[in-house]
Amino acid sequence: MDLKQIFTNNQKWISDKLKTDESYFENLSKGQEPEILYIGCSDSRVTAEDMMGAQPGEVFVHRNIANMVPNSDLSSMSVINFAVSHLKVKNIVVCGHYYCGGVKAAMTKADLGILNPWLRNIRDVYRLHQEELDSIEDEDSKYKRLVELNVQEQCLNVIKTPEYQNAAKEKAIAVHGWVFDIHCGKIIDLEIDFEAITKEIMGIYKLT
Ligand code: CO
Repeated sequence: MDLKQIFTNNQKWISDKLKTDESYFENLSKGQEPEILYIGCSDSRVTAEDMMGAQPGEVFVHRNIANMVPNSDLSSMSVINFAVSHLKVKNIVVCGHYYCGGVKAAMTKADLGILNPWLRNIRDVYRLHQEELDSIEDEDSKYKRLVELNVQEQCLNVIKTPEYQNAAKEKAIAVHGWVFDIHCGKIIDLEIDFEAITKEIMGIYKLT
């Protein structure tokens, strides 16, 4: 994409917005009250707002390689803190996508430098679900399942944060695991039963 084109596009975007609402940017500058925190992959094909049809101000977005929420990652932890404690979002979505390069890289033997410790978080997900994943013979199905299980584990990482725990006490928040199917453009709700899963692990993580 030509960088010059971006500035031309931007001008057109501004005039389109102003055509429908003269005070569009004036209102936008007043502040944000998004009700959703979206955590997704940095993959250029998984466009967050565009695929959700979300408008500016509606979704607080965090993207990184393979939509990870490691509890030692200052960036994602800060995003969750701000979104939950200050913006008071009502829903947190972790959205993975099939054919995720990050997940694929974690399934391959390769030295990827600085990416190694990041991808190790996905390898930990594999280890947690090794029995199920090893039993899947078809490589493509195994790959897709790891994408789904990674979403599930990252949702659990969200649940384990004190911000989420506090908000959940007031029943003010919910977490959702989604997968974007890059082959057809569909967003799939994995409908993960977090209540059942957290019941099993709450003793270990001292969750309430
Ligand atoms: Co990806």
